[in-house]
Amino acid sequence: MEKKPFYITTPIYYPSDKLHIGHSYCTVATDTMARFKRMQGYDVMFLTGTDEHGQKIEDKAKEAGVTPQQFVDNIVLGEGGVLDLWKLMNISYDRYIRTTDDYHGQSVQKIFKDLYDRGAIYKSVYKGKYCTPCESFWTETQLVDGMCPDCGRPVIDAEEEAYFFKLSDYGDKLLKFYEDNPRFLEPKSRLNEMINNFIKPGLEDLCVSRTSFSWGVPVSFDEKHVVYVWVDALSNYITALGYGNDAYNDYAKFWPADVHFVGKEIVRFHIIIWPAMLMALDLPLPKRVYGHGWLLLEGGKMSKSKGNVVDPVVLCQRYGVDAIRYFLLREFPFGSDGVFSNEALINRINADLANDLGNLVSRTTAMIGKYFGGVLPAEREADPIDDELIGMVNGLKAAYEAQMEEYAFQSGLAEVMKVVSRSNKYIDETAPWVLGKDEAKKARLASVMYNLAEAIRVCGILLTPFMPDSAEKIRQQIGATPEQFTYEAARYGVLTDGFKVEKGETLFPRIDIAKELAELEAAEAAAKAAAEKAAKKEEKKAEKAPEGVATLITIDDFAKVELRVCQVKVCEPVPKADKLLRLELDDGEGTRQVVSGIHTWYEPQDLIGKKVVVVANLKPAKLRGVESQGMILAADAGENDVKVLFVDDSVPAGSKVR
Ligand code: MSP
Repeated sequence: MEKKPFYITTPIYYPSDKLHIGHSYCTVATDTMARFKRMQGYDVMFLTGTDEHGQKIEDKAKEAGVTPQQFVDNIVLGEGGVLDLWKLMNISYDRYIRTTDDYHGQSVQKIFKDLYDRGAIYKSVYKGKYCTPCESFWTETQLVDGMCPDCGRPVIDAEEEAYFFKLSDYGDKLLKFYEDNPRFLEPKSRLNEMINNFIKPGLEDLCVSRTSFSWGVPVSFDEKHVVYVWVDALSNYITALGYGNDAYNDYAKFWPADVHFVGKEIVRFHIIIWPAMLMALDLPLPKRVYGHGWLLLEGGKMSKSKGNVVDPVVLCQRYGVDAIRYFLLREFPFGSDGVFSNEALINRINADLANDLGNLVSRTTAMIGKYFGGVLPAEREADPIDDELIGMVNGLKAAYEAQMEEYAFQSGLAEVMKVVSRSNKYIDETAPWVLGKDEAKKARLASVMYNLAEAIRVCGILLTPFMPDSAEKIRQQIGATPEQFTYEAARYGVLTDGFKVEKGETLFPRIDIAKELAELEAAEAAAKAAAEKAAKKEEKKAEKAPEGVATLITIDDFAKVELRVCQVKVCEPVPKADKLLRLELDDGEGTRQVVSGIHTWYEPQDLIGKKVVVVANLKPAKLRGVESQGMILAADAGENDVKVLFVDDSVPAGSKVR
């Protein structure tokens, strides 16, 4: 019988920095779901990749002194890069798309042109607020305290000729679609937020091209424009299947996607812009979007600039890939935020993996070795005490599957771990060490061991999507054949006489929490210190080169600054401001008022009558309520010393300084 297709995707990552454990979260979840679906017998397409265009990448590359392509190549393909990380974390993607791949660019051009030809895209002028780090446009009403609602950073005014997508046409169509497809977005709670914040206030047309930078897919019919990164990025879900290109031929088989897993902050793009684009193209919409929560650190979201990145490579090296994969999906409900801590991680590994699961496997394999030389005799003796465990083993697959179908990884794992705990309790109840002393009880003991081996086998099968390597070790230790370790075989009574148990290496060594936390704390402190040092260096750089101004400026840039000699006529302290002086200056044309923070070093009498250099075309600003119409030039003359630049008295007030 032909297998049913199942198409699942992760968001494609911005390779602007190294990935942190928060990024691994979604990919591990997607990988687990892909493995689960394969185990169920689906023909799975698991797509991941990188979103490599946009101003942020262009800026970062410039900063690093390399081309944008070199920059992204290094982060994606370089040592310790994205591909290495996914290999380390056992991510079984079927396809990896880079938006810099030629075939993708060609498809994006076709999609853009098609939308234009259909009248869904038109040319106009863009005026609005733009968040550079998020590469998102916002309307005034969407800003929070004047800042980007996603990242809280300042936005800039942008005005330029641009292409627009008629998103405003889609509000009602989207609402109808959500109503007809109530499971389109999960968890459901996120839908109201989207409707109330974005759709109800009225969707505005979306600016979908940029001319202020060039690192993107050029609009094929107007090459000074590049396609807006989100249109470029979202298209990956179909271009990677071969839509609009010859690189692949999987569109008919896999589209529409069964599910897009995405972080909660990008749900908006996936349930508004993406469906609207598809509607405009007359293509089917994805069946589901799942908006998962964020992994937080105490004190906020993970980010490199906070100096508190939790490096997935370090964690995997310290605790093992499977322990990290297990922790991520067992500790937090997938739809909600969760606070990551090393303590929670170690406690979880010790409690669930070392004590419960690891112990169960090692105790059982050791006992089968000790009492039966690794092979159970055919003669068994059942007891009613076995029934509860056997019942649980038989019911486990259905309980687990019900949770997994809802993407409730945490609850799916909880079902498995219930059986693990019950098995440990069963060992205590049946006391095999007592049975082992009595030759007449051998058949009973064999039965107890068989039941335990079966419980371990079924749990091992269902843990496979979460911890593929450990599950395979469990299979080998318990002596099950690959055929006895399939999803179909996840029920009691499959192991047949003669299976040979081998006690193997400890699956999950116990971690000494006090020692480990001390080591981690030291490592974290060192990382924090390094991050602070780097931030200070950046700050210094920023002082030298204020935002938006390159370190090297052209003569034309300099010509924009109007420097003028002025004579101080009046000077007095600003009330209730220790450091400020208010000066009235003769600037050659009249009187100008300037407020300057030099009171620490100068008294009014030191300045009255003197000639100084003033930046005369500085936008006026109020300091302590007093308007300042310029800035007096002064030099940093030492650690805490400032010297005003005085000009020879022979120079008339109003003279230009060049
Ligand atoms: N490039 C876009 C996605 C385009 S999809 C067509 C993007 N990239 S990203 O690198 O910024 O983020 C990728 C994913 O990582 C997002 O789903 C985001 O929610 C997720 N995470 C980033 N930090 C996270 C945590 N701390 N916790 C959980 N997931 C987080 O957005």
